[in-house]
This record gives sequence, C-alpha cells and structure tokens, in this order.
Amino acid sequence: MTDLPIPAARPENPRFSSGPCAKIPHYSLDMLSDAPLGRSHRAAVGKAKLALAIDQTREVLGVPEDYRIGIVPGSDTGAVEMAMWTMLGQRPVEMLAWESFGEGWVTDAVKQLKLDATVRTADYGKIVDLAEVDFDKDVVFTWNGTTSGVRVPNGDAIPADRAGLTICDATSAAFAMDLPWDKLDVVTFSWQKVLGGEGAHGVLILSPRAVERLESYTPAWPLPKIFRMTKGGKLIEGIFKGETINTPSMLAVEDYLVALTWAQGLGGLPALIARANANAGAVRDFIADKDWIADLAEDPATGSTTSVCLKFTDPAIRDGAGFAKAVAKRLEAQGVALDAGAYRDAPAGLRIWCGSTVETADVAALMPWIEWAYRSELAAQ
Ligand SMILES: Cc1ncc(COP(=O)(O)O)c(C=O)c1O
Repeated sequence: MTDLPIPAARPENPRFSSGPCAKIPHYSLDMLSDAPLGRSHRAAVGKAKLALAIDQTREVLGVPEDYRIGIVPGSDTGAVEMAMWTMLGQRPVEMLAWESFGEGWVTDAVKQLKLDATVRTADYGKIVDLAEVDFDKDVVFTWNGTTSGVRVPNGDAIPADRAGLTICDATSAAFAMDLPWDKLDVVTFSWQKVLGGEGAHGVLILSPRAVERLESYTPAWPLPKIFRMTKGGKLIEGIFKGETINTPSMLAVEDYLVALTWAQGLGGLPALIARANANAGAVRDFIADKDWIADLAEDPATGSTTSVCLKFTDPAIRDGAGFAKAVAKRLEAQGVALDAGAYRDAPAGLRIWCGSTVETADVAALMPWIEWAYRSELAAQ
C-alpha cells in the first residue's frame, strides 16, 4: 500500500541541503546588481567591497577588534588547511573528530603533516570528552559536526589561560551558534553554509595569539603561495583588510554582502541564532513522541541546531541504509525536501538543514511528509 494520503501543506522552499545551503528568503539574482564585475579586485571599488565584507562579518559575528578576519581561497577547507599548515608543528597537537570532516583534519595532521598527534574520536552522534583534552597543546576540532548533527555545547572546557592554540572549523556553526571568541584562536567558515552564500572562499579569523604564532614560528615544510600569511616574519596585514592573496569572485563577495545585510536587518546574530533554534526545535518537537525516528545526537546538549541528523529506529525496517535512501528519494520526488539524505560517510538517515536562512514554517511543513515517506516506504519494502 503506497497510496497513503499525502500531507495537505508543502514547504514553500524545499531546499534543506547542508551545503550549499538555502539562499536568504526572497533571494533574487537582481540583488547582485551592484557587484563590480569586470573590475580589478585591487581597484578601489573592489577593495572597498572586500573590506566591507570583513567589517560586516565582524559586526554580525561580534568578532573582537583585535582579531584579524581574512577572506582566503579554497572555501572552508582552504581556511582550515591554511591554519594547520602554517601554525602546527611548533608544539604537540591534539586532533578531535566526531564525523567525517573532523576525520579529514586528522588525516591532514597525521598522514600529510606527519605530526605525532594525540587523536581523540567519538562515534557519530557523540563528541569527545573535552575535559580530557590538554589545551596546552594545539587543538584542532570542528564546532558543529555537519555530518553527525552534534556540536560543542559551549566553550567552558577550554581554559582562558591555555598555552596551545585552538583551531576551530566552525563552518556550520558561524552565524547560527554562539562562538566564545576568547576561547578560540582560529575560526574558519565558508559563505556557502549558514548565510546561504557561495562556495569557493573561506573566512579565516585569527586571535592575537594565532598571529603571534605565525610571526614567531616557521614550519619545517614548504608552504604554497596561497597558504602564506607572513613576509619576513611579519603578518601580511593587507590580507586582513581585503587585499586577498589571489583573485576572489566579486560576484560571490556581493552575494555574501547581500546575506550579511539581510542578517543585520533581522537584528544580527541573536536573530540568526533564534531562527536556527526555532527550526531545529520544529524537528525535535516532531520526533519527540515518535518511536520510529530519533535524533542521531545522543545528548540533547550537543544536538546541532543547523545540521539536524535523524535515524530511523523502527525494528520492522529490513535494510536500514536502503530504507533511508528510499525515504529521501520519496521526499525529493515529491519536491518537499531536496538533498535531505544523510551524508555518504554518516549512518543512514536524514539530515535536515535548519540554518538561519531556512524558514521555520518550511521545516514544520516538511515534518508530516517525513512520516508520510516513512510509512509509504515501510508498506513498500
Ligand atoms: C564541518 C565541515 N568542515 C569542512 C567542510 C568543507 O567545506 P568547504 O567545501 O566549504 O571547503 C564542510 C562542508 O560541508 C563541513 O561541514
């Protein structure tokens, strides 16, 4: 029996991908008409746009005045690897991972940089015990595990007087979660995530201690030009004023500015956080009384408010992976949720992006469809 009654309402915007994420509400390409296309990014008009992007990022995220903000190549990956390649190796390092992207940074440290790292991992759905981490070492971690739906709840476990650097991949947290700047030395993200911007560029935020590391330490390995942030032992300050290392897309910059201006119009970071919280809340309210679906995050304190990951728990399901894929396919075929399947390396299930550009009404409208798709698939298996 596959002809279960379909839910009455549909999400107006079915885009629930965890990256690139939904554009801001009512987005239109016309909003990019002020992009200085065909002009040099080093001309006054280009430099002004890049500097504005940095200033508005600082304003919306509440980045301290003495932290540097740079726009760098290679999206979030570029920003993380730039930090790892330029700063690690000076002191022992701890690598923390609870999903596939964090595992990627472990591979970088252990197999590529060949660092003698302490590696702490947790299974999908959990994070490591932060109380066990030695923050006098450099520590690399992901704030929100996009593929596992778990996040660091707060910065309490990180000592203010640590000797090591904390290098934090915050790409699916920035703009949707509070980041404790005094506990973080390097923060990275890409525009394609919570603000629904474009990929390709990364943002790299450095504390004064991270800058001190860059100026006082030269790694043993060679650095490609796109990783180099110092010259003659001094920080290249221009990078953090909009003089990018290589050519950025001014179209992507304009798109980011549009999203930042939208965020400011809403009321800035508190409003963005409230939107993500409401979206994730709508998913969790729905699953709360269901015995066939559950949060992948085991501890509600670590449950993500952006990439909410769900698993099917009905013992009647025969092939867990096939079932979850089929449910996602049904949702996609109905045009109610695009790209909502779990990440390829993650446990089978669904992943509903709940970041700040997503409308709560759309999340709420999707929920009955998940039940419909689950029941339809159960009947068909
Ligand atoms: C936690 C995390 N780190 C890194 C990345 C890679 O980001 P990018 O493709 O922007 O380099 C992603 C992308 O989804 C991510 O979720």
